[in-house]
Amino acid sequence: MAQKWSPDSWRSKPAVQMPNYPDKAILEATEARLATFPPLVFAGEARALKDHLARVCAGEAFLLQGGDCAESFAEHEADNIRDFFRVFLQMSVVLTFGASKPVVKVGRVAGQFAKPRSSDTETQGDQTLPSYRGDVVNGIEFTEDARVPDPERQIMAYRQSAATLNLLRAFAQGGYANLNHVHKWTLDFVKNSPQSEKYTELAHRISETLEFMRAIGMDPENNPKLRETDFYTSHEALLLGYEQALTREDSITNDCYATSGHMIWIGDRTRQSDHAHVEYCRGVKNPLGLKCGPTTTADGLLELIDILSPDNEPGRLTLIARFGHDKVGEHLPELVRAIKKEGKQVVWSCDPMHGNTVSAGGYKTRPFDRVMGEVNSFFDIHDAEGTIAGGVHVEMTGKDVTECTGGARAISDDDLGSRYHTHCDPRLNADQSLELAFLIADRLKKKNGIQGQTDQAA
Ligand code: PEP
Ligand code: CO
Repeated sequence: MAQKWSPDSWRSKPAVQMPNYPDKAILEATEARLATFPPLVFAGEARALKDHLARVCAGEAFLLQGGDCAESFAEHEADNIRDFFRVFLQMSVVLTFGASKPVVKVGRVAGQFAKPRSSDTETQGDQTLPSYRGDVVNGIEFTEDARVPDPERQIMAYRQSAATLNLLRAFAQGGYANLNHVHKWTLDFVKNSPQSEKYTELAHRISETLEFMRAIGMDPENNPKLRETDFYTSHEALLLGYEQALTREDSITNDCYATSGHMIWIGDRTRQSDHAHVEYCRGVKNPLGLKCGPTTTADGLLELIDILSPDNEPGRLTLIARFGHDKVGEHLPELVRAIKKEGKQVVWSCDPMHGNTVSAGGYKTRPFDRVMGEVNSFFDIHDAEGTIAGGVHVEMTGKDVTECTGGARAISDDDLGSRYHTHCDPRLNADQSLELAFLIADRLKKKNGIQGQTDQAA
């Protein structure tokens, strides 16, 4: 029998990756203030997302999850949010066409502020300081003052999340998501891409489809579905004091929800089954993500699924596979088989970023070919096992940064320094993000074509 859960039951468990606040009284007072603030999301929205994810689980929809590795207080311009949202919408239209299925859109945004680190300290020259743990905890500047965890940052992160979410909701419902506009932006991308011939055919087919729809009277002017969209938020539930403060009992169901975002996930470093992060997440009813990496074993994963999704409810749990292009083939098939054998209802999503980080010229980067290589292996494995490759989870931005190498514009190691802006891991830039979507869509389209032919033959 599981022990009783409460929003603070995680406090009696061991917790890794948590900051050490110097003044506990200030921390407690800040968390108490946060607990009086309005929720950022409503429980009914989290339930709606869970229903959409249940469709992904059944193979009837595709999940696109993406955004910054770490949001920052410095980059909070409207342009930044708009450019991210624009590329995200473009990706989702391309993927909708490729998959011939609705795309469930979940941003790593409006709350993605806390970061796990491989080391508690960082050394530069002869100085060693506490590591940067995300803007919700401390500052990125390499000074003693900046690196002290400051509770007030939680209030700032909450307020920034509220403002970001507000603008995203306005974009999603206010006409910015108009399908014809989104496709026009994509045509501009295709026209300007050095590898435009790769994307022209698919883009042209989308154009034809939209023209056909307009011809039969389905246009954004008279059909809200073509100018509005559902967009959800997500982040890693790492800073548990913050999460607890925003945990609310839903007045309709009396269940507890994390109201800091629609979906929360457990990172690769904090998924110990008897530790605090798993304890917190098991009790809230939001859809959950769980990162799976090279150290995940089949038994360990099944144990976690029993804890996090005891009712085996489709849509509750998304497994986010992040192995690396050279390791996914060695690890993923065994996990997929174990889950299938036990009849566990999960969404499998591919994070092709976190296992493919390399160093070049003093920068962390990710070669585009390796990112795409992991995606392709992930799809191949699910095809071979007869299971569903449900979605992708990427670190991306709408800006023209130079953080990941490769792609159609062939960013080289030498280019990295020119626009390397991330506060944590390297992100795909706008073009690379859209290229990834085109390559996945092409693959899905081909698979659907083959599937269609076999269905006809049967
Ligand atoms: C992340 O998603 O930014 C992250 C830290 O991932 P992981 O837990 O998979 O390493
Ligand atoms: Co990251």
